[in-house]
Amino acid sequence: SGPDTYSPTGQATGADQARVAQAGSHLTDAQGVRRPDTDHSLKAGPRGPVLLQDHHLREKVMHFDHERIPERVVHARGAAAHGIFRSYGTAAAVTRAAFLAEDAETPVFVRFSTVLGSRGSADTVRDTRGFATKFYTSEGVFDLVGNNMPVFFIQDAIKFPDIIHAGKPHPDREIPQAQSAHDTFWDFVTLHTEATHHTLWNMSDRGIPRSYRTMEGFGVHTFRLVAADGGTTLVKFHWKPKLGVHSLVWEEAQIAGGVDPDFHRRDLADAIEAGAYPEWELGIQTFPDTPDQTFEGIDLLDPTNLVPEELAPVQPVGLLTLNRNPSNFFAETEQVAFHVGHLVPGIDITDDPLLAGRLFSYLDTQITRLGGPNFPQLPINRPHAPVNDMLRDGMHQTAVHRGTAPYRPNSLDGGCPFTAGADMSAYVETPVRVPEATKVREAPESFADHFSQPRRFWLSMTPVEREHIIGAYTFELGKCYEQAVKERALQVLANIDPELCAGVAAGLGLPAPEPTVPLADVAPSPALSQIGQTWPTD
Ligand code: HEM
Repeated sequence: SGPDTYSPTGQATGADQARVAQAGSHLTDAQGVRRPDTDHSLKAGPRGPVLLQDHHLREKVMHFDHERIPERVVHARGAAAHGIFRSYGTAAAVTRAAFLAEDAETPVFVRFSTVLGSRGSADTVRDTRGFATKFYTSEGVFDLVGNNMPVFFIQDAIKFPDIIHAGKPHPDREIPQAQSAHDTFWDFVTLHTEATHHTLWNMSDRGIPRSYRTMEGFGVHTFRLVAADGGTTLVKFHWKPKLGVHSLVWEEAQIAGGVDPDFHRRDLADAIEAGAYPEWELGIQTFPDTPDQTFEGIDLLDPTNLVPEELAPVQPVGLLTLNRNPSNFFAETEQVAFHVGHLVPGIDITDDPLLAGRLFSYLDTQITRLGGPNFPQLPINRPHAPVNDMLRDGMHQTAVHRGTAPYRPNSLDGGCPFTAGADMSAYVETPVRVPEATKVREAPESFADHFSQPRRFWLSMTPVEREHIIGAYTFELGKCYEQAVKERALQVLANIDPELCAGVAAGLGLPAPEPTVPLADVAPSPALSQIGQTWPTD
């Protein structure tokens, strides 16, 4: 059944082959029929009734009526850019991924986003930021779907609908959490203390980045790299901005949110247009792939944990340069579909339970958001590698498949052999041993410490950063109506640090509680402070 392509002509695939709209000199309708007038409906006389037989009117209005697609259920507000990733080859010893070989150049598309706001919300709100990168590698698409914070709110994806419901606008008034009533968000994160670490990052200056160009990015989960000889290494991915990490101060964020809600997307587009191309180094922290998947006592499968850079330095493996703005927001920034399961040979997943849920969720939501299962055929999502899947038909199918035998192996379409196993460039799941176990709905004991890492983060902050964090908690908790929620939040803060708790308690006019757990004996990690960080290295 011949090579499958997504081009009706059977020619090469790729974004450059996409149908270019509005390029001709004549106006036509959707059938290509030339139309002389698109300003007047067909009527029975200039003042008479409009005629149902006016197909041009009906087609034009029908199409307009269906212009909107659902916004992303999270990360709806975003901005994106094209670029290039150049690999240093420094990861070649630990992964056989071709795009990480020395001097490999790979086109990329990066989308930055806020998490909770709707498509039309403001850029500078206090929130986590998405940092999603699509690598169009020679071996197929690899997506690194990360955030600007290295940890997440929850440890198990089954809680994701709950935390998002708690953070999204109120169901009755549709008033966003940010800068209004906050009770449900604070109720959730204080009842589920695993959220403490991420919440602290949110309340730090990282929650109000100055620019997308000055944000770090993190893959969050631990992934598994596979070398050419089959050896495996556990890894965390980092993006380090060449411009350094910088935030707004809260007053700036609030003013910008009102004066210029497009502050971040304008900044990104303007910089690229002016030739000031933003750059990030991709870095990896590597850990031995031991059976317990821990490092220095840190459970690498717990996405509320980070590994301090002092314990595992970030090693640069390549340079990302964003150098081209999208030419059409809808076709590129809206229609792009990232997925943590888009992996290439040499990169594999681990058993992080949050990652497992993500592997289901993105594909599932994109079937609704992008109108059926054929969104990989959209120009922005097409791999820059030959596609010869056995997928057929479906809503919005644009490929014209040839041949008679859409399965492998077959003896009809010129005898297409099935070459699995023989082809070294194929994706093969790493044969990781699954421990003998009993089915349970519970978290491991190693996921139970919710305060040591937040305490390390707090202790790593400079005085001005601490002042900002206290101010942010005071402001946000000050918007809660429920006294019990505020009091529970103070209890959580007391378990991180007495100075933090006392500062926020004073701001709220409430007594500071005593800790209910012993304060963790942890060392500060200077790399966690924006001010103390030493990157970039050159
Ligand atoms: C979208 C990051 C956890 C479900 C996104 C996006 C990013 C992201 C960056 C925006 C992608 C884009 O720009 O199009 C993360 C990170 C997580 C995480 C770093 C934790 C480490 C989860 C979990 C779930 C989830 C646990 C569900 C169980 C979704 C959904 C979308 C999304 C449904 C919308 C996708 C779309 O419409 O294309 N996430 N996320 N995420 N995320 Fe997550």
